[in-house]
Amino acid sequence: MNPALPAGCCIGVFDSGVGGLSVLPALRAALPGARLLYVADSGHAPYGERTEAYIVERSQRIAGFLRAQGAQLLVVACNTATAAAVEALRQSHGDIPLVGIEPGLKPAVALTRVGRVGVMATSGTLSSRKFQRLLLAQPPQVSFHLQACTGLALAIERGDLRSTELQAVVQRHCAPLREADCDVVVLGCTHYPFAAPLIREALPGVTLVDTAEAVARQTARLAAQLPPSTRDLPPLQLWSSGDPAQLSAFTLRWLEWHVEAAALP
Ligand code: DGL
Repeated sequence: MNPALPAGCCIGVFDSGVGGLSVLPALRAALPGARLLYVADSGHAPYGERTEAYIVERSQRIAGFLRAQGAQLLVVACNTATAAAVEALRQSHGDIPLVGIEPGLKPAVALTRVGRVGVMATSGTLSSRKFQRLLLAQPPQVSFHLQACTGLALAIERGDLRSTELQAVVQRHCAPLREADCDVVVLGCTHYPFAAPLIREALPGVTLVDTAEAVARQTARLAAQLPPSTRDLPPLQLWSSGDPAQLSAFTLRWLEWHVEAAALP
């Protein structure tokens, strides 16, 4: 990465693991001068089958860490953590802007021609009150087929995007959506864009929706109010509560960014 970016604001981003990396290119494109700090909570992933209390506790710890590193704005680059913890985070960190991510139902409604939309997400996201409210706000003429993709984030977290394990999990979760004849499928978890080539193979002709760019646009809008960070930081810093070397390796392989990750203290 270019070490000589102009002074910009400092944005803290986190996910249950490596999934939030799928949001970083859009954030970088929308905010070329920003310092990005990323925490992968891979030591505690996946969040999808954890309790709400557990996810709130992890999110609060990570948000506190990112702020201590100088973050002036927080991006929860995890649908599951947004559903479980964004309200608690807003209460504890109401003095700074906070951006969450949720499945792109509204863009999917605009795209569907047949009125049948699939939603792939974790069971935590799909069963949350936040998601249920979002679902109720959609027009009744569109039907939604909800697919709780147990095991999918974990298979992506292992890093081999062509593994037979990942192919089998993708096949298993895409089959019901193929049967339901959906023409648009929402990727409602930030890990899933990394499996998009396999999902496209399993759902030929289907349009996939992900919300990384919408999140980046909203972040850029809010970041425009922030003063440049006074801290002298490199353009991207990475921490993992799992294996930092693995986070560096995936960032290089998937984003072609060479950054050494540190262990999350
Ligand atoms: N990447 C996360 C999301 O967007 C969740 C994956 C998980 O930890 O279960 O929902």
